[in-house]
Amino acid sequence: MSVQIIVGAQWGDEGKGKIVDHLSEKVDIVARYQGGANAGHTVVIGEREYVLHLIPSGIFHPHVRCVIGNGTVIDPIALMDEIKQLQQLHVDIEGRLLISHHAHLIMPYHKLLDTIREQTSEKIGTTGRGIGPAYIDKVMRVGIRIVDLLDRTVFVAKLKRNIEEKNKILKKIYGNPELDVEKIVDEYEEFDKKIDEYVTDTSLYLNTALREGKRILAEGAQGALLDVDHGTYPFVTSSNPTSGGACTGLGIPPTSVNSVVGVVKAYSTRVGNGPFPTELSDPIGDRLRATGGEFGATTGRPRRCGWFDAVSLRYSVMVNGIKEIAVTKLDVLDEFDHIKVCTGYEVNGKRLRTFPTDVHTLDDVTPIYETFDGWETSTSSLTSYADLPANARRYLEALASLTGTELWIISVGARRDQTIFVD
Ligand code: GDP
Ligand code: IMO
Ligand code: MG
Repeated sequence: MSVQIIVGAQWGDEGKGKIVDHLSEKVDIVARYQGGANAGHTVVIGEREYVLHLIPSGIFHPHVRCVIGNGTVIDPIALMDEIKQLQQLHVDIEGRLLISHHAHLIMPYHKLLDTIREQTSEKIGTTGRGIGPAYIDKVMRVGIRIVDLLDRTVFVAKLKRNIEEKNKILKKIYGNPELDVEKIVDEYEEFDKKIDEYVTDTSLYLNTALREGKRILAEGAQGALLDVDHGTYPFVTSSNPTSGGACTGLGIPPTSVNSVVGVVKAYSTRVGNGPFPTELSDPIGDRLRATGGEFGATTGRPRRCGWFDAVSLRYSVMVNGIKEIAVTKLDVLDEFDHIKVCTGYEVNGKRLRTFPTDVHTLDDVTPIYETFDGWETSTSSLTSYADLPANARRYLEALASLTGTELWIISVGARRDQTIFVD
């Protein structure tokens, strides 16, 4: 039994795409277990940059099979675009992409409702990809699944029922024009023909692969602090990026999981609204954004930036069962003379020992910082841990010690060759 789960341990965009691509060299299957095209996972090969939204980040390794699991929500328009782009780049996906028949579809009304809700109620700062409304329908048991695309009668009946209901909401609550059922049926029939060849029972596929001794990487999207159960609710996404989500989102047993690796940025970022204790709304934050190129891979929005937060990380390590971390973007800190790490929180003069997920408390905490000397030299061409400047190693070892984890991978640039494994 061999499943390794790769989770984002912060608020997303930790560099999961880069790490998963790198680790894919030594596995047979890479499987995405939750989320949808709200994700943007960047893989840089040579001088080329690829941004994947739904297709697992193992796709650039020809020997790897890529699975989009039942826990995901699939926008067929986004998926078809992504497949087309890969084909144009001569990435051969023939026989290598498998889509769960139980994954739910994102329909045009999900995207519309996502956008309208953001304008009319408390703003979460969503990606506008229809994620929340699609998961609402899944839990309401009215969602349309990939398998429904394969039977026209079932599909049209379900779609009509959904659109009738959504039209009432759109018109009566939001004063929006109604959607045209026939147009959507025609459009989605096209996807049926194109998607058919990829659809299968991926849970059966993965469990058979496990019995055959295959190695599987489970690729999380978003990050633990955006988890709908364990994150900073309501400023979260609508799925479970934490490691537990890998079992439900792929239909594999917990007993098949060997390890959980947390991908951790050497500082912190967050896109969208919600509490962010170590946020720097000052020139240092601007400098992190500019140096780290911190603009969303999906929406292009500027990311909020701040220092590394060991308190939230300790929580993330606990909830996910992380033993090893992959620290990314160390090179972004190369020119800083001093680097801070939040080691505790204080609220009303009292020190908090644990991470409060209640957003009101989290809004009120004052971070307590420890300051580290910078290394003020470039790390981006270094290939071994021993070659890293002493101050960089001191910083990294502090991150590991403060979070109760071991350093496994250090990333010093976006390219594949800018990756250091720690013995
Ligand atoms: P993901 O959503 O977790 O896969 O992360 P994103 O792709 O959204 O954002 C990470 C960004 O940082 C991308 O632009 C990557 O190419 C880039 N990146 C990844 N690792 C490193 C690194 O070690 N150093 C630098 N400078 N950039 C990195
Ligand atoms: P990757 O996989 C960072 C954020 C949105 C918003 C909240 C809810 O690239 O790390 P949603 O559209 O999911 O309903 O938005 O979650 N968010 C992400 N932030 N990285 C992501 O994905 C994200 N996917 C969603 O900005 O705050
Ligand atoms: Mg991203």
